[in-house]
Amino acid sequence: MGHFVNVEDLSSNQVMHLIDRAIAYKKGEVKHVTGHVVNMFYENSTRTKHSFEMAQYRLGMHIINFEVQTSSVQKGESLYDSLLTMKALGVDTAVIRPFDDNYYEPLMNLGINIVNAGSGCGSHPSQSLLDMMTIYEEFGNFESLTVAIIGDLVHSRVAHSNMQLLKALGARVLLVGPKWYFNERMLQWGEYVDIETAIEISDVVMMLRVQLERHDDVMLMSAEGYHESYGLSLERQKRMKPHAIIMHPAPVNRNVEIADALVECSQSRIVRQMENGVYMRMAILESVMEG
Ligand code: CP
Repeated sequence: MGHFVNVEDLSSNQVMHLIDRAIAYKKGEVKHVTGHVVNMFYENSTRTKHSFEMAQYRLGMHIINFEVQTSSVQKGESLYDSLLTMKALGVDTAVIRPFDDNYYEPLMNLGINIVNAGSGCGSHPSQSLLDMMTIYEEFGNFESLTVAIIGDLVHSRVAHSNMQLLKALGARVLLVGPKWYFNERMLQWGEYVDIETAIEISDVVMMLRVQLERHDDVMLMSAEGYHESYGLSLERQKRMKPHAIIMHPAPVNRNVEIADALVECSQSRIVRQMENGVYMRMAILESVMEG
């Protein structure tokens, strides 16, 4: 692979290979992957940053955690120049979460593997793959599934990556949310439907965080109003298919997009998504390092 920057670059065979490798790691396979990796998180993260770190520890990689707050970024150093420095120091792979959507284009020829850890509103390929792993573990295929992606579609890099990948893998994708969180460009990957229909016919109900930090004033809704209109409430959960699962990339706004009591309920796979993140990121790093 070399770089891992978006899901559009992946064939279905490559996705299935990564899922197989992640499941093998989850079952206990031990492997040593040689390499020096730097983690560069310009935007905050709990799950992605620390599950990449855990994956790197388990693979026996040498890790540098680049500290944006104490580095020369504070003196104006660009991402390109920071990465040029890392290359000179002997780093071969960089896991990067910047603020911008398409940051990686100018970095591709630096001779360092780029792993996208979630960029702006654009894409979050490692989250998307761990979501595919979680769905595959549950159902064993994608072609027979209807997956609803519900909420702040337009600001969610997870939604963008997941609607593309799910469509490519053969799932039926339903898109749900207020019209100001929706973009007609998304119709190439899914159907825009109302929440009550989506809840009743879906095998996977994937809730999205309302990304207040990316909103302008016109998009803001009260937490109470949003939950009633578009949240996964206890009443809506009762109308889900009995075998259907609930997913959310987290962090979660409890009682906004999902009722507090549903985060860890028996149909929820939210904690499993976090757990699977370590194994999928091991598979991704292995593929990147081994080309
Ligand atoms: N799901 C996800 O990307 O979470 P973090 O922002 O905490 O990494």
